[in-house]
Amino acid sequence: VDKREYLMVERRGANDCVAVITLNRPKALNALCDPLMEELARTLDEVESDDKVAAIVITGSEKAFAAGADIKQMQDLKFTKCYSGNFLSGWDRVSRCKRPVIAAVNGYALGGGCELAMMADIIIAGENAKFGQPEINLGTIPGAGGTQRLPRAIGKSRAMQLCLTGDLIDAKQACDWGLVSSVHPPEKLLDEAVSIGEKIATKSKLIVQMCKEAINKSYDASLTEGLHLEKRLFHSTFATNDRKEGMDAFVEKRKPNFTDS
Ligand code: CAA
Repeated sequence: VDKREYLMVERRGANDCVAVITLNRPKALNALCDPLMEELARTLDEVESDDKVAAIVITGSEKAFAAGADIKQMQDLKFTKCYSGNFLSGWDRVSRCKRPVIAAVNGYALGGGCELAMMADIIIAGENAKFGQPEINLGTIPGAGGTQRLPRAIGKSRAMQLCLTGDLIDAKQACDWGLVSSVHPPEKLLDEAVSIGEKIATKSKLIVQMCKEAINKSYDASLTEGLHLEKRLFHSTFATNDRKEGMDAFVEKRKPNFTDS
């Protein structure tokens, strides 16, 4: 395990195909201060440039995935500095990963913590997870995607209710509402995330990247535009060796040998 200032990085799964990034700022329940987010962005650059890495897991501790942006850092912040420095703008690095990102959430995922989880491609939760956007209690609003990604994930009425009341929901509710894909005992959560990553690692990285790009488009495009991109990416798979290999293998009743090309 490579221990850094605010996080730890390790390789898990068959052939070290899954990079696990564990947020590690226990004293502040993984509150997301600028240096932590900068370290996370640098770490993502690094793991993504490693060809062995097919998927990335981001997790926290059993008590907290992340309790939000750092309130102590924001306490004396003024509009001028927020605006001129485009505060929080660097956070979207997570949503721009080319490899699939799985958020494995135990404990609190609040405010920026919930927003960070929503920047991932897949969220799975421990039974003890709690999600919410409590910024309203601090006299502010979600600033890292919460007002946009939450309604897309759970619908307008539920997103409004969470953001306007600041109420938290538990893992079961989050799963019923479609925010997370599945719920697990806390101690099994990371293994489950790694096994999803390992499964993805058996596919072609190139095709996985195309599939992820197409699904992500559904978040910010009209249906017509999204369908157009999907069709073009689908057509593009026919320019790859892996598409040919995948179909040959099916017809020949054998496992495909993908080469990411
Ligand atoms: N920022 C800075 N420090 C935080 C923090 C945060 N978001 N959340 C917790 N901490 C710190 C606490 O100040 C405390 O530090 P001290 O020991 O120095 O006092 C330590 O972490 C432990 O926290 P608590 O004592 O509060 O732990 P608890 O178990 O009693 O409560 C909690 C846990 C309910 C998560 C509570 O800590 C809490 O409500 N945290 C704030 C949640 C929040 O409002 N998040 C939204 C932040 S705003 C935002 O994220 C903006 C955005 O859109 C990007």
